[in-house]
Amino acid sequence: DFIREIKGLSFIEDTIKSGLGFKKVIVVPGNADEDKDVIKEMGRAGALYVKGIIKDNDIIAVTGGTSVNELVKGMPQGMNKSNLLVVPARGGMGRLVEIQASTLAQRLAEKLGAGYKLLHVPDVMSKATFETIINEPSIKDIIESIQNANLLIHGIGRTDEMAKRRGLSDKEFEELTEKGAVGEAFGYYFDKDGNIVGKASTIGLNFENVKNIDNIVAIAGGSGKAIAISAAKSFNKNCILVTDEGAAKEIVKLI
Ligand code: BG6
Repeated sequence: DFIREIKGLSFIEDTIKSGLGFKKVIVVPGNADEDKDVIKEMGRAGALYVKGIIKDNDIIAVTGGTSVNELVKGMPQGMNKSNLLVVPARGGMGRLVEIQASTLAQRLAEKLGAGYKLLHVPDVMSKATFETIINEPSIKDIIESIQNANLLIHGIGRTDEMAKRRGLSDKEFEELTEKGAVGEAFGYYFDKDGNIVGKASTIGLNFENVKNIDNIVAIAGGSGKAIAISAAKSFNKNCILVTDEGAAKEIVKLI
């Protein structure tokens, strides 16, 4: 707490909270782009917060990514709540290097002693395949759970970084860039003012669900992500941001 005070982190938290419309902002010291331990600290801080808000019967949706992975790792084993369910927020969105949402959903469920459901769908589908898949009873069932999630834990990525990870074509990337996309979260691309300008082609949580969800925890840090974080700014008054000092100081300049 002493370190937080001399670094003025509480002041920065308040500035971002009111500037970007978050319910709460948690800033950990350091910059994840320079120090690999900082993402672990963010993960622990995020896990602590999440642990405190989980209630019986919650449906928790998670995205993939390294930041959510750290939150899951930071979650202590065991949770005294009943009938919890963890689901991936969306179907597979990445190609090779992405830490998949399904993997993290399963790991978080193990930590919490919760049930889980997985959404196994291909990244790219023809319209016909999509129509068939979406009507499979098992897929319908998980989509319904996802759309009833009352807690969403998601990462935020830079458009250029996500395009690389997801193997977008140059043309797709150019289109997004032309539309001003700088940040991405749960499959939606945002411009610097927070408008949705693109969407990953997969099934799962949609923006209408997200707008109405009770609790959202966004976890993202590193100074390079500041623009993406401020783009994915609060579209829901129940959104909490867990970030680091590196990103926070740059976000303040963008407000
Ligand atoms: C992806 C999520 O897995 O991770 C995205 O689906 C998110 O919504 C991204 O933007 C961020 O990843 P990381 O590894 O930078 O935390």
